[in-house]
Amino acid sequence: MEKHRIAVTRTIAQPAIERLHNVGKITIWTERQPPAHIQLMQMVKDCDGLLCLLTDCIDAHLLESAPRLSVISTMSVGYEHIDLEACRRRGIQVGHTPGVLTDSTADFTMAMILSVARRIPQAVEYARSGLWSTWDPGLLLGHDLLGMTIGIVGMGRIGEAVAERITAFGTNLVYHDRIQRTDVENKLNAKIVAFDDLLTQADIVTLHVPLTDQTHHLISYPQLKMMKPSALLINTSRGKVVDTEALLHALQNREIDAAGLDVTDPEPLPANHPLYELPNCLITPHIASAGAATRTKMAHMAVDNLLAGLKGVPLPYPVI
Ligand code: GLV
Repeated sequence: MEKHRIAVTRTIAQPAIERLHNVGKITIWTERQPPAHIQLMQMVKDCDGLLCLLTDCIDAHLLESAPRLSVISTMSVGYEHIDLEACRRRGIQVGHTPGVLTDSTADFTMAMILSVARRIPQAVEYARSGLWSTWDPGLLLGHDLLGMTIGIVGMGRIGEAVAERITAFGTNLVYHDRIQRTDVENKLNAKIVAFDDLLTQADIVTLHVPLTDQTHHLISYPQLKMMKPSALLINTSRGKVVDTEALLHALQNREIDAAGLDVTDPEPLPANHPLYELPNCLITPHIASAGAATRTKMAHMAVDNLLAGLKGVPLPYPVI
């Protein structure tokens, strides 16, 4: 029987790759940088299955060049990089990796909240630079979490996991979501509020929504203006949920106190971007799910989806 042809767009956990070797002929993109669109088209043109990452743009044009493709499995929970409509038209199954990265992402969000609130990057820089000459009662004062109101935008899996963690710090919780989560309200004493009320009430606004037409630039000039001047903005969701120019302006003018961004727009943020210059902006390179065990589990889940799609059975973790 002819073996399946599979394209994998980056080096992922070896044990997961081994499982693919058993069923097909694999082409792996081994460079550190993702393939350019044209290279990706070249890779998938004879393939039955594609295992991709969030850095790969899977659009209708690419699908046209891949007539045999029957399954696309992305090693990410987000799937805004895949044209689902075009996949539906072609009957291509699409899978992703939800759930497995919830804890890792929520842990990282907490690390970012604490780092920004307690000014840890500035403190590290201060100590390293030799400026530390005495214990100073007014040195590097940050925000105490105790008693703060935390505004969670998007009470899905990750929002809830952040809510669970942050209540241990003695905070109050408000959240905004299309769906009321009475289970979370009962468990954590969280209160659902209108989006504008969340912005005006919260000391920390943390974003946990997928990128959609509705959430694109959810935070722009008017929203930043509504936030408290002492507020912190944390984004571990998708860069385009925040209007970068508006955020830059708000941080430069201290319309909000500080931000922590694991995701940016554009992504990666170019090395000379003015946001890097701001001491009140902590930027990390999209690593919220980067626990070693988590990434291995994600790779296996992506392979589970791919193998199911190649067999022509429903995917265990489907998008469509
Ligand atoms: C990471 O951002 C993911 O979508 O898995």
